Amino acid sequence: MPFPYDRPRRLRENPSLRDLLRETRLAPEDLVYPIFIEPGKGVKNPIGSMPGQFRLSPDTAGDLAAEFRRDGGRALILFGIPDRKDPAGSSGADPSGPVQTAIREIKSRAPDLIVATDVCLCEYTSHGHCGVLSEDGKVLNDPTLGHLALQALSHAKAGADIVAPSDMMDGRVQAIRECLDQAGFEGLPIMSYSVKYASAFYGPFREAADSAPKSGDRRGYQMDPGNIREAVREAELDLEEGADIIMVKPAGPYLDVLREIRLFTERPLAAYQVSGEFAMLRAAGDAGLLDYKAAALESLLGVKRAGADLILTYLAPEFLRWQG
Ligand code: PBG
Repeated sequence: MPFPYDRPRRLRENPSLRDLLRETRLAPEDLVYPIFIEPGKGVKNPIGSMPGQFRLSPDTAGDLAAEFRRDGGRALILFGIPDRKDPAGSSGADPSGPVQTAIREIKSRAPDLIVATDVCLCEYTSHGHCGVLSEDGKVLNDPTLGHLALQALSHAKAGADIVAPSDMMDGRVQAIRECLDQAGFEGLPIMSYSVKYASAFYGPFREAADSAPKSGDRRGYQMDPGNIREAVREAELDLEEGADIIMVKPAGPYLDVLREIRLFTERPLAAYQVSGEFAMLRAAGDAGLLDYKAAALESLLGVKRAGADLILTYLAPEFLRWQG
C-alpha cells in the first residue's frame, strides 16, 4: 500500500464536498446584536470609536429592530445611556428610562425579536463603577445587589426576554433571581456575564456608553486575564445561583477559556466579541491591511468552534447582509 494511505486532502479538493463536511457553521440565530440607547427622539449618533455603530433613541431603536428582524436577525441586547447619573445608579431602574422605553418600542415593532438587557450600574453611576462605593472609594459588593435587582425587575416589567447582569458582584444572580421570582417573573431567564475579564478591549464601549470609571479601574471585581481555573469557579457559582445562560467575555483572546467552560457545562454558553475586537477588525479592514469580511467571518467562526452557542457581536447586521 502506497504511503500515505489516509489523505485528508481527498475531502478538501471538491468545493461542494468540502461544504457538505464543514463541522462548524454560522447562522443568524447564533448572533445577538448589542445596541446603545439614549433618551430622546430621532437620535442616531455615530459612535466615533466604533464605525458603523450608533447611539439611538427608543424610536430609532425600534426602526433598527424592525429592519434587523426583516434581515433575519433574532436577538438584541440593549445598553442604556441615561441623562441622569447619581452615586447609586438609580436611574437604571427608572420605568421611563431609555432601555425600558426602547424595550416597549422594539416589542411593538418586532414582537418575536428576543430582547436582552444588560444589567449594570456603570452606565448610571456618577463615578462610573459597576457598584456603589464606600466613603473611601471601594466598590461595595452586597449593598450593590439590591440596586441591580431593581434594575433587572424594571427591565422585566418593560417586557425584556432575558436580563444579563454584567457587573461581576458576587451573589448578584441569586439576588436578581429572588427579586424576579417574588414579582412573578419566574419564567424570565438570566444570562450571566459569569466570566468577565478586566480587559483593555472594552475601551471603545466605554466611550460609546460613557461608562469609564472616573477613578481607579475594574480589576477589583473583573477577572485577572491570567486566570482560567477561576473562570470555572465563577461559572460554577453562577450556575448554582440559577443562571440559565453563562457568558465568557471578551471572546477572541479567551477562546481557551470558552472551551474550558464548554467542557464543564451542558448549559447554554454565550461569548461576547467586544467593542475592541470589533474596532480592531474595522481599523485593519479600513486601512486595507486585511480582507474585512473574510477576517470578520473567521473571527466569529472561531468563537463558535470554541464552543459558544450564542455570540454577542457588533458584526450581527453585517453578517445578515453578507449572507443575504
Ligand atoms: C458593563 C459592560 C461593559 C461591556 C459590556 N457591559 C464594559 C465594562 O465592563 O467596562 C463591554 C462591552 C464591549 O466592550 O463591547 N456594563
